[in-house]
Amino acid sequence: MTSQGARPARKAVIPVAGMGTRFLPATKAVPKELLPVVDRPALQYIVEEAARAGLPEVLMVTGRNKAAIEDFFDSTPELETALEKKGDAARLDAVRASTDVAQVHFVRQGEAKGLGHAVLQAAAFVGDEPFAVLLGDDLIDARDHLLEQMLEVQAEHGGCVVALLDVGRENIDKYGAVAIEEDTQEGVVTITGLVEKPPVDEAPSSLAIIGRYVLAPEIFEVLRGTAPGRGGEIQLTDALATLVERGEPVHGVVFGGRRYDTGDKLDYLKAVVRLAAEREDLGPALRSWLREFVTELPAEGASSS
Ligand code: UTP
Repeated sequence: MTSQGARPARKAVIPVAGMGTRFLPATKAVPKELLPVVDRPALQYIVEEAARAGLPEVLMVTGRNKAAIEDFFDSTPELETALEKKGDAARLDAVRASTDVAQVHFVRQGEAKGLGHAVLQAAAFVGDEPFAVLLGDDLIDARDHLLEQMLEVQAEHGGCVVALLDVGRENIDKYGAVAIEEDTQEGVVTITGLVEKPPVDEAPSSLAIIGRYVLAPEIFEVLRGTAPGRGGEIQLTDALATLVERGEPVHGVVFGGRRYDTGDKLDYLKAVVRLAAEREDLGPALRSWLREFVTELPAEGASSS
């Protein structure tokens, strides 16, 4: 197993091959990862986060109906020439920034057989080093440095590191849940067990795994031997549970910042409103409209007509 002081992670894997059923019918034609959060696809924020954390080499695990993702990260010479001719420097910069942010590679997951199966498609790209996994629909606010902290914990302890969020016991059945021991480091815990989407009364804690992982390459060998679990899918949570059972180190970093699941309609709307309200160009006008809008909202349960 990766030991203390091991080579730090340099590569990021972003699985984007899921079917996005929670966002139908939009996702019949548009991958949920490309839905705009203000004016950028959710996925662009995630690639930017990887680059900021010092992971400039990115592999996206894509699937059917996801060709638009490859197009988005491709350069667009005709569009750039047209903007250049118009002298539209701001938009030209925005277009270039979206492709220059990282070196993006692609691999296909033939069938959406689960997150564990998606991660397994990255084995050849990753090789024998630790690597990060960022879920393509899970947005972490750029002001919170979760991934950087996880990379530090992995470099210090070796093994695997997952991001945790206290979602409250009543919501834990939608997530992977963990059993923990407190660690000496604040906000860092040692994981002693993991279970995917447990019934509320059987959950080991209210701490849920959210969409950031730093994994040791040993995960691939475990994933190859992992049978389909919850929902008939090959679960990354189950492979991590096997590593824990073998006595390998798996740590958790407890996140207290801002996170949006952009694959969920309500969370997506919150992300758009919050990020737009904080923007210099859109914020003042949006905030002023929002204040007015809120005062006009009928009380819950009252008729809106
Ligand atoms: P989700 O469970 O959120 O994605 O997986 P989903 O299956 O697309 O969502 P719904 O429930 O149907 O709306 C988390 C991440 O893992 C990827 C997804 O693209 C998403 O980024 N994923 C999931 C894969 O790449 N392959 C899979 O087989 C499953």
